[in-house]
Amino acid sequence: MRLGADYYPEHWEKSRWQIDLELMHEAGIRVVRIGEFDWSLFEPREGDYQFAWMDEILDFMEKHSMKVVLGTPSATPPKWMTDKYGDEIYQADIHGNSKIFGTRKHYCFNSDVYREQNRILVEKIASRYGKHPAVEDWQIDNELGWANTTRCYCSKCRSKFQKYLEKKFGTIDRLNEVYGTVFWSQTYNSFDEVIIPQAGACYDTCHDTQGQNPGLLLDFDRFCSDSVISFMKEQADIIRRYSDRPITTNMLDAAVNSGTGIDYFKMSKELDFVTWDNYIEFQWGKAKDETVSRDHALLRSYKHQPFWVMEQQSGACGWSKMGPTPTPGKLRLWTYQAVANGADTVVYFRWRACPFGTEEYWHGILGHDGKPNRRLQEIAQVGAEMEKLSKVYGPLMPKAKVAILKSFDSEWSHAIHKHVENFHYDTLLLDYYRAFYKMGIPVEFAAPQEDLQSYELVLAPALLMVSDEQKKNLEKYVKQGGRLLLTFRSGVKTMENAMLTESVPGSFAEIAGIEIHDYDPLLEKQTTVSGVFGAGTADLWCDIITPGTAETLGVYTSDFYAGTPCFTVNAYGKGSVYYLGCDLDETAMERLARYLCGKTGIPVEAYAIDGVEIVPATDGKQEALFILNHNAYPVFVPLKKTYTEMISGCEVSRAAELKAYDVVILKQQNA
Ligand code: GLA
Ligand code: ZN
Repeated sequence: MRLGADYYPEHWEKSRWQIDLELMHEAGIRVVRIGEFDWSLFEPREGDYQFAWMDEILDFMEKHSMKVVLGTPSATPPKWMTDKYGDEIYQADIHGNSKIFGTRKHYCFNSDVYREQNRILVEKIASRYGKHPAVEDWQIDNELGWANTTRCYCSKCRSKFQKYLEKKFGTIDRLNEVYGTVFWSQTYNSFDEVIIPQAGACYDTCHDTQGQNPGLLLDFDRFCSDSVISFMKEQADIIRRYSDRPITTNMLDAAVNSGTGIDYFKMSKELDFVTWDNYIEFQWGKAKDETVSRDHALLRSYKHQPFWVMEQQSGACGWSKMGPTPTPGKLRLWTYQAVANGADTVVYFRWRACPFGTEEYWHGILGHDGKPNRRLQEIAQVGAEMEKLSKVYGPLMPKAKVAILKSFDSEWSHAIHKHVENFHYDTLLLDYYRAFYKMGIPVEFAAPQEDLQSYELVLAPALLMVSDEQKKNLEKYVKQGGRLLLTFRSGVKTMENAMLTESVPGSFAEIAGIEIHDYDPLLEKQTTVSGVFGAGTADLWCDIITPGTAETLGVYTSDFYAGTPCFTVNAYGKGSVYYLGCDLDETAMERLARYLCGKTGIPVEAYAIDGVEIVPATDGKQEALFILNHNAYPVFVPLKKTYTEMISGCEVSRAAELKAYDVVILKQQNA
């Protein structure tokens, strides 16, 4: 458990470095990330490589016992390069227009020229600094996964996409068959005729890809995700030839990566550890505590191991306007929220606010004046606490017995055709996450092909499509005694984004023991339900279920399908398969979660109250119960056992008292 800062020594006079490092050490900052946007310093003109400036920085860091995460600067190709190679490098947007110089992330992941330029630079950096004593880790590029930067519609991508499809399908006849191009006369005669699905194909809108073939769209999503991963892996492979230091990249929260981003499960396989960037209250809005908790949960799930926050908000932020300054206590709270949820290093963005450039309003720990302030003081308090906690605990991970399946194939398919107004895959997953979060029950995410045996309960909300391997994996999990919950829109599509012709829920009809012959996508209408989750409402979707071997646990109570099942359970092998044919309001969803925990014997250690996050965690040897008060007022949280509070050393029994934004870390006495 330790702290770090994103540091840009190249933005400041060298005479300031010494002061910065002293202040950092006093605050318990033990690692800095540097260099991730510095291509034009490394190579100011083509082939003119300059390293003296970075040598000086790294030697300085070593002298001052500061560990470094060194970034590769591929997110910011320099001006001379885009001028010289122009269209060879730029991405094209969804309308086919070239991007321009002026910000960052405007390069095409499939540009041979860009990749070659980048390989040369990365090799020079890795060979020079791969064994430097200050370099502890590597970060590749920056924030791979920004929605609008991962889909490129240029001619380079088009020809690579055609080759990708040729490799996948072998013959064009096969592609035509799988995509159903007979529909609207879209039959292709050869792979070099295949289009990239840009905006504007439909006759009533020109702004998006609506109207394009859904199979083609989904494969394009897969192709783009794979392109970014291969761009990243190419850099990792070069670094590994010269350095044994762990490699990562900083990922984005689910909302930003959602729909058009990267398959982070797949990307994580190429990394030694994963990290993400956590901004909570800024120009673009405020995140809820459960949403941030869910994002931490995703990160720990990509490799099922502790992760880092590579950029943690530390001041008021925005580009053209700012969000609020973090209220006293929030920096500490946000840091412990990360730690409770599996982060073992939290790096604050940024050390000091920059007086120039796009982010001149983006505050760091220090303001523009660089003077110690109350934010630094708060972080120094956390730094001291972490040093103390680190003597007791190794890296902590929440004890998760519940998994939610997250499928990027399903996510992209839902984004292509969303089934019904107001339905978002990501929001549905969050609805399930929240229900368990509110009971203090940690949830992990998993890909559908992963080994699931360690979970007591696996939820597969709207898991649209499964491969044969994934289907078998889920069947095996249940046969061996697992409990699986499926919902509306689970198992209804092929992996190529076509509708299955078996009765719904298609791939899962047998294990669910039901058939669905009609369903009601709800538009400006609400249906009522009643069952083991009490009385509730559905706003999105209602499957009208005909039970086969399944037993009914809930029914609709309104509309023409009143009295028919909405929730069923079916015994399968040693386990059971639940099927919920509709969405549920928040209260009914919480009751459903409680019901499922009761059935699976998952213990509820403490009932959370509104705005209080409870996370039972372990480092494998010792337990830590984190209680985090996200409220602006004090709370009392009832407890069932007697604990020692690990920061203050005080005994806590019956109830924990927390001030606004306060945190306690409890260890059970005599355990
Ligand atoms: C992102 C980037 C940083 C910086 C911050 C603030 O998270 O990774 O480089 O731009 O946003 O905008
Ligand atoms: Zn491209």
